[in-house]
Amino acid sequence: MSRAFETRCIHGREDSRLNDAFRAVSFPIYQTATFSHIETGHNGSGFDYTRESNPTRTHTEEAVAAVESARHAIGFSSGMAAISCFFELFGRGDHVVCSEDLYGGVFRLHRLVSEKNGVGITYADTSDPDELAAAIRPETKAVYLETPTNPMMHITDIRRAAELAHSRGALLAVDNTFLSPRFQNPLLLGADIVIHSASKFLSGHNDTVAGFICLNDDRLAEELRLLAKTTGASLSPFDSFLVERGIKTLAVRMERQQENALALAEVLNGHPRVRDVCYAGLAAHKGYELNLSQASGFGSMISLHTDTPETALGVLHRVRLFTFAESLGGTESLVTYPLVQTHSDVPQQLKDKLGIDGTLLRISVGLENSDDLIRDITQALEG
Ligand SMILES: Cc1ncc(COP(=O)(O)O)c(C=O)c1O
Repeated sequence: MSRAFETRCIHGREDSRLNDAFRAVSFPIYQTATFSHIETGHNGSGFDYTRESNPTRTHTEEAVAAVESARHAIGFSSGMAAISCFFELFGRGDHVVCSEDLYGGVFRLHRLVSEKNGVGITYADTSDPDELAAAIRPETKAVYLETPTNPMMHITDIRRAAELAHSRGALLAVDNTFLSPRFQNPLLLGADIVIHSASKFLSGHNDTVAGFICLNDDRLAEELRLLAKTTGASLSPFDSFLVERGIKTLAVRMERQQENALALAEVLNGHPRVRDVCYAGLAAHKGYELNLSQASGFGSMISLHTDTPETALGVLHRVRLFTFAESLGGTESLVTYPLVQTHSDVPQQLKDKLGIDGTLLRISVGLENSDDLIRDITQALEG
């Protein structure tokens, strides 16, 4: 029987072949660019050059694979580097269907890189299976989605999306950054690829930038590793170490962050200065049941519309405990203004459709005391 999630967070892969020569309990940082060779064609250690592979990164990749229930995990210097590598799988004439609600940097990647490479992209509301099915074309090579989406927290049925993609010969890729493997394992629900911005919950301390692609298919893993080695955005040994240290506390952090988020969402939900709260943990959320049918929790990301743009801007400047900053998933609670920060690159038409406007705030709930957090956001809302 495989080990429980909390144990995998601490000990990684049971079948790891990587052992430190001095039996260090915390796997060391192999801060080296290159490795000596014994003779031509024989490096003795399995490692040649750190852009391609490094023991610390390999150990961290094993830890990520262990918690995501994947055969392979590939480490990148950021979440965007992982996403870019995934899109490098496609070329002229290929087509990818994406959630219309996505981290804004992905739209910029499509505009600046995928378009130039001749890859067609269609944005669809993937939470509606009929709309997703209609968007898939004969030349569609993949469906790419977030669930819950950033920032509107829409939920897509991963099992159904996998069936639809596979029935048309396409891959399903899921960005699992928001729920992390603590609450959701897309590969176990039929997805082919899981992507993480490990800058968020996996590392968890707002102190590093990292990304991963997780998958089971050996051939595809080999192709992605070759692309990663060639394009060169590999995760450094020190950042690998920080991610692995973060994963050790992933389970407890996310459970407490979720508790805090639920307490906060309930207060925000009835507040006179708040028009609506987008949080998959509230029973009134449209995707509440669906999310719980495929995930064991709802995480700690909340979006909300305030009554006016002035209230939203006032919150950003009045918070004292929350920090007005981009990013999410760390120990410190953050409040973000998606319109001009994380989602500034979303096409205006989609912003209008999704409700990414001047009244929208996105909150990442951290590990502070929940009463302190509630007091701070309440005073910031009330001015
Ligand atoms: C859901 C999601 N995916 C990917 C990314 C990109 O990750 P990174 O900032 O590590 O490049 C982000 C960044 O905010 C994100 O929120």
